[in-house]
Amino acid sequence: MNNFQKPRGTIDYFGQELTNLKFLEDTIKYIAHLYGYTEIRTPIFEHTEVFIRSVGQTSDIVTKEIYNFLDKGGRNIALRPEGTAGVIRAVNENKLLQKQNYPLRIYYYGPVFRYERPQSGRARQFHQFGFEILNTKEMMDDLDVILLSQTVLNILKLKKYHLEINCIGSIESRNKWIEALKIYFSDYKDQLSNDSLNRLNTNPLRILDDKIDGAKDFVKNAPKIKTFLSKKELQDFEILQQSLKSLKIDFKVNESLVRGLDYYTDTVFEFISELDELKGQSTICAGGRYNNLIHELGGIEAQGVGFAFGLERLLIQYQTETSNNIIYDNNSEVCIINLIEDTFVAESIAYMLRGFNFSVYYEPSIKKITQGFKLAEKRQAKVILIIAQNEINNNEVILKNQITMEQTKVNINNLYKTLEKTLKNND
Ligand code: HAM
Repeated sequence: MNNFQKPRGTIDYFGQELTNLKFLEDTIKYIAHLYGYTEIRTPIFEHTEVFIRSVGQTSDIVTKEIYNFLDKGGRNIALRPEGTAGVIRAVNENKLLQKQNYPLRIYYYGPVFRYERPQSGRARQFHQFGFEILNTKEMMDDLDVILLSQTVLNILKLKKYHLEINCIGSIESRNKWIEALKIYFSDYKDQLSNDSLNRLNTNPLRILDDKIDGAKDFVKNAPKIKTFLSKKELQDFEILQQSLKSLKIDFKVNESLVRGLDYYTDTVFEFISELDELKGQSTICAGGRYNNLIHELGGIEAQGVGFAFGLERLLIQYQTETSNNIIYDNNSEVCIINLIEDTFVAESIAYMLRGFNFSVYYEPSIKKITQGFKLAEKRQAKVILIIAQNEINNNEVILKNQITMEQTKVNINNLYKTLEKTLKNND
């Protein structure tokens, strides 16, 4: 095979798309700062057990989508299929929750891997930007993470999406719901798909949000979680809804929203795109509360809440909804045009100037002045240095100020000081 191609479901980022992606990352990082979060970086692979224990033994992510392998030492390793589990593992291992007696607010971003059927907005290597508040019982923190997501979408000036929320209760409430669903769906076995039949015993909640079965009337009429919620759970969910209303944030309660990861309890939410470009893969960001995960992964008894943006989907949403092209920020201050035989002179001047912190563009293959001027214009250089034989014989170069259009000769020994002055005056 001589024509190498990237593995299916992966993306090469370059040019304008990469500039836009970095703009999204920078914007979210800035908003993370507004909300008082600090960054954490964890490995992109973990012991597979970390994901089995958190995301869930019977979840699609673990049963169908995980990239795992035995490493050369015989350990079962997995590329992370999401960010939360590794972050909690790291927080527990480094005892970060024991180091402060108030909640930890952390964010992370980077590549994530799931073996799924690729299509627009669905990749096998994609990127998440996630947030977690750890060691929090406060219901207001559920609201806070929803507000954070909303702030990101507002600052990016996006409009074509909506928010769905649900409360899936504690493990105790949910177990009662699961038992009721098992009994209810047993009467409809002949109308369930094979996938749903398999889920009937392992995870009947996933029948509710199944793409095909979820639309059938008997599934829509299945028992609802609200019948099984405790008084406190109902009260908290009511407060969340009232708070969103008073902040004028539109939302709808989707009683079938259960999420594909097993660690959630109580609040779950998704921001869903309304663009055709993301049809079928429309969740731009999603998350919820997890009251048992930290302890389940060997940490203290503490509760958490968080969410993650899928950056590929946010990028599609952003590029479709806005026509602003983010401008490249890698222009050079100084451009060197070399007109003499010996290209080493220009190379060494560029080396010297870069050492003094100037961004210098020098392309040795360009030997004609008109070509050099065109390139300097393209890179929006503020100063052009022309290296010509007569001047070099006197240890000088020609300096052309691109703002005033003045041209002077400068001794190479004074070059960096003159450049410093010229660029300062140009500002
Ligand atoms: P998730 O919903 O599985 O949640 O993934 C978060 C986001 O990643 C999705 O809403 C979607 O935008 C994006 N995403 C998922 N799969 C793909 C894919 N194959 N291609 C492109 N984008 C995708 C989580 O991962 C949780 N860890 C979120 C969380 C954080 N919950 C609490 N804290």
